[in-house]
Amino acid sequence: MKAGTNMKIAGKTVLVFVLLSITMVMTLAGSNIMSMTVGDSSVLTCLIKGQVSMLTWTITPKVGDPCTLVYRIDTNTTYRANCSDNINLTFRAGLAPALEIQQVEIAQEGIYLCDVASTDGNFRRMYNLTVLAPPRLSLYCDEQGSPVCEAAVGKPPAQLSWGPESSSTAEEEHHDNRTVTVLSKFTACSTNVSNVTTCMVFHPAGNWSQSIACCPSEKNSFFLHIGIITCVLIIITLLAAICYFKLHSDRLCHKTKPPEIAPIHSQQANKSGVEGKIKEASETKPQLHPPNL
Ligand SMILES: *[C@@H]1O[C@H](CO)[C@@H](O)[C@H](O)[C@H]1NC(C)=O
Ligand SMILES: *[C@@H]1O[C@H](CO)[C@@H](O)[C@H](O)[C@H]1NC(C)=O
Ligand SMILES: *[C@@H]1O[C@H](CO)[C@@H](O)[C@H](O)[C@H]1NC(C)=O
Ligand SMILES: *[C@@H]1O[C@H](CO)[C@@H](O)[C@H](O)[C@H]1NC(C)=O
Ligand SMILES: *[C@@H]1O[C@H](CO)[C@@H](O)[C@H](O)[C@H]1NC(C)=O
Ligand SMILES: *[C@@H]1O[C@H](CO)[C@@H](O)[C@H](O)[C@H]1NC(C)=O
Ligand SMILES: *[C@@H]1O[C@H](CO)[C@@H](O)[C@H](O)[C@H]1NC(C)=O
Ligand SMILES: *[C@@H]1O[C@H](CO)[C@@H](O)[C@H](O)[C@H]1NC(C)=O
Repeated sequence: MKAGTNMKIAGKTVLVFVLLSITMVMTLAGSNIMSMTVGDSSVLTCLIKGQVSMLTWTITPKVGDPCTLVYRIDTNTTYRANCSDNINLTFRAGLAPALEIQQVEIAQEGIYLCDVASTDGNFRRMYNLTVLAPPRLSLYCDEQGSPVCEAAVGKPPAQLSWGPESSSTAEEEHHDNRTVTVLSKFTACSTNVSNVTTCMVFHPAGNWSQSIACCPSEKNSFFLHIGIITCVLIIITLLAAICYFKLHSDRLCHKTKPPEIAPIHSQQANKSGVEGKIKEASETKPQLHPPNL
């Protein structure tokens, strides 16, 4: 008895599993992977068979509320709920109404389902929409003379690599709108003779590569050394000259300066002495009357 129910349950489970698998296969078969670049426009069509009476679009974004657009052929009316303004039905002579997305945004990524009711039955077409954002690219030399390659606000994050292939450090910054900024610094300038490095960016929206000469070459660094030595020599010479002239002028000064300074000093001392006494007197006056309590 018990074994029988167990077998029945097992049988049901298998049946449910098989049914689920079939449903999944059917759904997958009808799914269209689609990718659009931010700002692009596109038209999505439904699977049409027979005489259509009603057409329903259900858009489920990855984040946020779903949007519904229903079109009735008999009354030629559209009902819309929670749909953004850049999504609308488009009507073309001789064609069934289609869904038009104008200037797509990252937020519109998600599943787009079109259900058609017609004389031949119900038909569904599914789109899985991914929105790409091409990265903003820049290649520059930092303060240390290392090449830095930046692929800002890309979706998905860009892949960076360097030529000649060498060690580099990479940083990633994730933004709220699902974009990622990738920054890579080439850290092996001195290991090779070539001073030109190339940054290569790989992204589904397009590849890019650019070269820059930051790293000082052997020749450059030779001239740099010569320059530094020359500067040091000039500074030493200048210092020597200053010292020499200072010694000479000091001897001249000692002869004339002391008599000039002496009278001023004594006058100032006298003056400040008198002022000081007056001040002292005026300051001490109020102290003659100690504050009463
Ligand atoms: C529209 O969005 C609201 C929440 O903002 C939700 O309660 C409602 O069910 C949505 N309507 C449809 C038709 O999806
Ligand atoms: C249905 O309405 C749209 C405008 O909302 C119009 O462009 C189209 O021609 C109409 N179609 C029919 C069959 O009347
Ligand atoms: C959608 O398109 C119809 C006609 O094609 C137009 O009347 C309506 O204003 C549009 N809606 C939006 C939100 O753009
Ligand atoms: C849609 O595609 C994304 C990847 O592009 C995947 O992660 C997701 O599971 C897909 N959704 C469906 C319902 O197929
Ligand atoms: C994403 O956000 C960053 C800043 O947070 C902004 O610079 C960038 O333009 C945004 N990208 C898109 C496609 O909205
Ligand atoms: C220098 O570059 C050459 C090719 O240009 C390469 O074969 C070599 O391995 C590089 N050396 C280092 C240390 O990166
Ligand atoms: C190094 O860069 C200079 C320009 O800054 C260029 O003239 C020179 O050819 C480069 N040397 C090598 C070996 O790439
Ligand atoms: C970018 O480069 C990768 C690897 O070399 C290649 O598979 C892909 O097709 C390229 N994409 C474009 C848009 O050129």
